[in-house]
Amino acid sequence: MCGIVGYVGDASRTLDVLLGGLSNLEYRGYDSAGVAVGGDELHVEKRAGELDALEARLSDADVAFEGPVGVGHTRWSTHGPPTDANAHPHTDETGRVAVVHNGIVENYRALRDELEADGVTFGSETDTEVVPHLIARELRRGLDPETAIREAITRLEGSYALVVAVAGVDALFAARRDPPLVLGIGDGEYFVASDVPAFLEHTRDVVYLDDDEFVRLDHGGWTVTGTDGRRVEKDVRTVSWEAEQTGKSGYEHYMLKEIHEQPRSLRQCLSGRVDELGGRVVVDELDGLGTPASVQFVACGTSYHAALYGARLLRAGGIPATAHYAHEYATAPAPVTGEDLVIGLTQSGETADTLRALRKGAGRGAETLALTNVVGSTVTRECDHVIYLRAGPELGVAATKTFTSQLVGVNLLAAHLADGGGGRQRDLVSALRGLPDQVQAILDGSAASAVIEEFADSETFFFLGRGFDYPVALEGALKFKEITYEHAEGFAAGELKHGPLALVTADTPVFAVVTGDDEAARKTIGNVKEVEARDAPVVVVTDGVAEASRYADHVLKVPATDGRLAPLLANVQLQLVAYHMAAGLDRSIDKPRHLAKSVTVE
Ligand code: M6R
Repeated sequence: MCGIVGYVGDASRTLDVLLGGLSNLEYRGYDSAGVAVGGDELHVEKRAGELDALEARLSDADVAFEGPVGVGHTRWSTHGPPTDANAHPHTDETGRVAVVHNGIVENYRALRDELEADGVTFGSETDTEVVPHLIARELRRGLDPETAIREAITRLEGSYALVVAVAGVDALFAARRDPPLVLGIGDGEYFVASDVPAFLEHTRDVVYLDDDEFVRLDHGGWTVTGTDGRRVEKDVRTVSWEAEQTGKSGYEHYMLKEIHEQPRSLRQCLSGRVDELGGRVVVDELDGLGTPASVQFVACGTSYHAALYGARLLRAGGIPATAHYAHEYATAPAPVTGEDLVIGLTQSGETADTLRALRKGAGRGAETLALTNVVGSTVTRECDHVIYLRAGPELGVAATKTFTSQLVGVNLLAAHLADGGGGRQRDLVSALRGLPDQVQAILDGSAASAVIEEFADSETFFFLGRGFDYPVALEGALKFKEITYEHAEGFAAGELKHGPLALVTADTPVFAVVTGDDEAARKTIGNVKEVEARDAPVVVVTDGVAEASRYADHVLKVPATDGRLAPLLANVQLQLVAYHMAAGLDRSIDKPRHLAKSVTVE
């Protein structure tokens, strides 16, 4: 949450670099934005609203926003509503120190009281504002800027990614505890940001910072030191993403582009991981990981739905497995030993709740494994094993292609851990091979946009599924509510009669996911009949193997495949349902209200 970008380099480029970076980071928060640019003096502008409000303001500015250093920020509010005053950067009373921050200063109230008792006047309601005032106080005491910033940081409790500019110093200073920060190493210019897309059009050479590291960037280069001031040697890595991958490529929204990228993202996820001739799954990253006594998945949101699916898959393969909301697990972890495996599903690799849950598991001796999309993210540095989703950058706040890659990822994992090379693995490999083309067929022929037209005035929507279709029903409802702002609930189909059925009327469209023709599918068809009998309009998302279509007002068809993968195809139809409904309602699809892509607070 919150996007940070900082730049040291060509004075005439600073503002453009910052605004370009913020535009690519807006998925992290978008309720206000601001920049500070300068050299001997810092010019600060900030505005509530999306980035264009700031850009409009800057185009009317009567000072030139030029200078060799600059910081920018796009905010997701935690302390104080989105107003001009609460937007970052925050400064001290003289405007000498400018700070952008992602995270929460947990002891800000005590620090604010202390500073106010010293006569400091605050201009915002944020926790962040204590930081420039603390730094300014150390500067007044005669400390040099770097020491003053280090000293101020020692007073902070909580989480922070901070970038600091000080007027008259042609350098930027940055520090991290918990939220991510990454350096971009250019040719005579340097970047620091919350995420790589902020500077990807300028450089692909990056350095990922770890907790409690401190950075100085100036025209001579970059140095990373620890809390003790000692130099830390860091690797420069080259990211393989291309700048075009972070653009919209002609699509109206990132979400639609990312939905359409799924045939490719799935191929990338599978590349080199299936031995088609041998009919087996080969996941090199898991070499050395034996079959655990039990598996506990921890995750949030969409990733939690992938975790529910993964746990079921492992249980089907004979391994005891459970899925937990990471935030619940973090406060009451299930018992584990060194024989158990805790798996964190997190596309961003930065979700604070999931990181905390994994640390709980590791602290109790369990092995840990991460499935993530972001190379170098915090989860990859903290877990014993990592499987990358290889979905490419996902900038729409609504997770789509990373979810389908998660479902494939847990299939690969389950095959590695449970199948032991048997016949079921051969079936899976053959189904996986056909999956990207089947997704393409859905994208080419989906009736989702036509089907939802008649529901434009409905205000409540239900999503049902059973077995492997249940997590997909939950995910369909989450995606729908996230971007349409309409009330949507996902239920286990069998639970309907235990309460939710009371809500079903002729005004509540029901989307039922029915794949395969096993006991679960047949029972869901029974539930479909129940809602139909209460006059609810029914849309069945089905491969047509069971005869669910017979009881439906509308059918969204998916190709037939292995029972483990059919729910993934059904999910693609539900992504399109949510997208077209939100587009019809003219919602802010890529930046839904109150949400952010990467949730780095607990
Ligand atoms: O990065 P993660 O996968 O850990 O994120 C977890 C959730 O915040 C995320 O899936 C969220 O629910 C999405 N916005 C859903 O589209």
